[in-house]
Amino acid sequence: MLAGDRIPSQMFLKTETDEQKLILLPNFTSEREPMDLMEAIKTRRSIRRYKPVPVPEDLLKEVLNASRMAPSADNAQPWKFVIARDEQVKLKLAAACNGQKFIVQAPIVIVACGIPEEAFQTAGGYMSSHVIDVSIALDHLTLAAHAGGLGTCWIVSFKEEKVKEVLGMPEDVRVVALTPLGYPDEAPDKTPRKNLEELVVYDRYQ
Ligand SMILES: Cc1cc2nc3c(=O)[nH]c(=O)nc-3n(C[C@H](O)[C@H](O)[C@H](O)COP(=O)(O)O)c2cc1C
Repeated sequence: MLAGDRIPSQMFLKTETDEQKLILLPNFTSEREPMDLMEAIKTRRSIRRYKPVPVPEDLLKEVLNASRMAPSADNAQPWKFVIARDEQVKLKLAAACNGQKFIVQAPIVIVACGIPEEAFQTAGGYMSSHVIDVSIALDHLTLAAHAGGLGTCWIVSFKEEKVKEVLGMPEDVRVVALTPLGYPDEAPDKTPRKNLEELVVYDRYQ
């Protein structure tokens, strides 16, 4: 399949009948049109400007629930998401994120933490699965947030020790990533992606 080719719907759905119309990701606000999974994947952007508008509690719960549904190695679910809403906490987190002040604009900052002890210890025979597991959960969250009209931005430019200090985290829990969560105040253009030919090879690594 070449870059730009339409991916056949049967790769995602069993039939092309009613199931094709299935709303894979509910859209959470009554005013918005439902958004299906591929649309959410294609139109999500990293958002670095946020409106000073609170996120409704039920929408937050739905978005968090999407992360809860994520798969994980051995189904261990070795994570905890800290929801920071306090202005002072958010300010300290922004400082811990090497001064990325835009995250304070968002009403919520989510800190996605991994618990190595609870994770599958020998992924690939050599590593703990916690970073993979947390990343999948956070990616579910970012897509569900977008489908619900919210913006996010993966943040891994941070000093772990500082984040841990701000949140009072135990020694054995690791910070994997953060994201602001709130209503976007910008509509960024899409960023470029490599062609499939650069990213995918068949039968042998080359
Ligand atoms: C693992 C990861 C870490 C990232 N860290 C940061 C970050 O610290 N600060 C930031 O502004 N954006 C960060 N980003 C956002 C990327 O810059 C962005 O995803 C990329 O440029 C593609 O743009 P898009 O998300 O709008 O498609 C990160 C993204 C990922 C996946």
